[in-house]
Amino acid sequence: MSEKPATVREYDVTTPEVLADPTAWLHRVREESPVAWLPRFGGYLLTRHADVVSVLQDTRLDTANMMRAMEALTPEQREELTPLREAVTLWVGHTNPTDHRRFQLLLKKYFTPRMVDRLRPRVREITHDLLDAVAGKGSMEVIRDLAYPLPANVIAEMLGMPVADRERLQAWSRDVLIVFGQSGDLAALRRCQDSMMEFHDYLRGLAAQRRAEPREDVLSMFVAAQADGIVTEDEALANCVLLLFAGHETTANLIANGLVLLFQNPDVLAALRADPEQMPMAVEEMLRLDGPAGAIQRKVVEPVEVGGHLLPAGAHVFVSLAAANRDPAVFPDPDRFDVSRGRSRHMAFGTGTYYCLGASLARMEADECFRILLDRMPALRPAYDRPDFVPAPPVSHRLASLEVLF
Ligand code: HEM
Repeated sequence: MSEKPATVREYDVTTPEVLADPTAWLHRVREESPVAWLPRFGGYLLTRHADVVSVLQDTRLDTANMMRAMEALTPEQREELTPLREAVTLWVGHTNPTDHRRFQLLLKKYFTPRMVDRLRPRVREITHDLLDAVAGKGSMEVIRDLAYPLPANVIAEMLGMPVADRERLQAWSRDVLIVFGQSGDLAALRRCQDSMMEFHDYLRGLAAQRRAEPREDVLSMFVAAQADGIVTEDEALANCVLLLFAGHETTANLIANGLVLLFQNPDVLAALRADPEQMPMAVEEMLRLDGPAGAIQRKVVEPVEVGGHLLPAGAHVFVSLAAANRDPAVFPDPDRFDVSRGRSRHMAFGTGTYYCLGASLARMEADECFRILLDRMPALRPAYDRPDFVPAPPVSHRLASLEVLF
């Protein structure tokens, strides 16, 4: 935990006000104290677009060692979780800068615009299949029936996982989620470690098959890179897990949150039905207004000045992408869903060295998904009074469920 700084105003993020309306609270904090302190999480909170950009592009802060969930544990408990910690430190984005460049170079060869184009028809097919499965029912739970399985199927195919294993993959992925959390829940961390190790064993078996018979998937690419001495086996396994996880948890939330936004903005929904070509811009607004990554984290490596405050080495920083994306200094009338903004400077995928590798893929999946959904379900409407948001610490939310009628 970082020390509380004397000069920075502190805020309690567990009050009913924050939980009821994180957006309004973030607006208030941005005005009152754009560099704030969260005692509950022992870290700074940044809410201004300019500060968020400058920090994410500053090499004096890094992403490494994000396993804060472990800080509250005893040395023995941490020791027990060594395999988990070691695996996570191999994830691209959690490594040192040299390893990071090496992974990025490798993965960027695969995550190309060509790959996204090639996957587009498959994304359409999967979306149709998922909607076919519920078509006769007149209702669905969007997260379970569409938002989650669509990107999960896409990323599993990209990685080269057999269809029959999808359920297991989803269960492992859910357990791994805790790595990004703030709570030192030992039972959940143990489950996370067990799932991660089971997942690695499973991948080892699959990698052996790809070694014998390479295909055009990420696993085959890792197998080849391992043979060329570019990555180790542990690095390959760890990064397959990361991709599986990063490839669908986030995109699932984009689809779910995006649909809630459309219900909240019936004029936008009607305009998109009339002219689906506006969909890519609508997806940009969904990303800006309620992007899946509410806040990302950094550790200060060398002291750095942000918004007139000196952040000391070792300090923990929560970079609120949600607050930056509604900063009126950059986005006039920031709370309005406005498809005419153009490709705005939103931070939903981060910026700088760690900019999201799957941004084009996620955009394409959401674009196709919403086009098909609106086209096939002209009577689509919410079956809830209030969206079922649950808090996602420190200051964010996610949908637990999303019931609709059509
Ligand atoms: C709407 C969907 C998505 C959102 C909002 C999102 C958000 C982000 C953000 C904010 C970062 C930067 C993290 C940081 O700076 O600490 C990031 C990095 C990353 N994302 Fe995504 N992501 C999404 C989808 C995807 C998909 C589909 C994939 C892969 C298939 C992916 C793979 C990655 C990877 C590998 C990184 C690390 C990049 C690096 O360190 O160089 N993401 N993502």
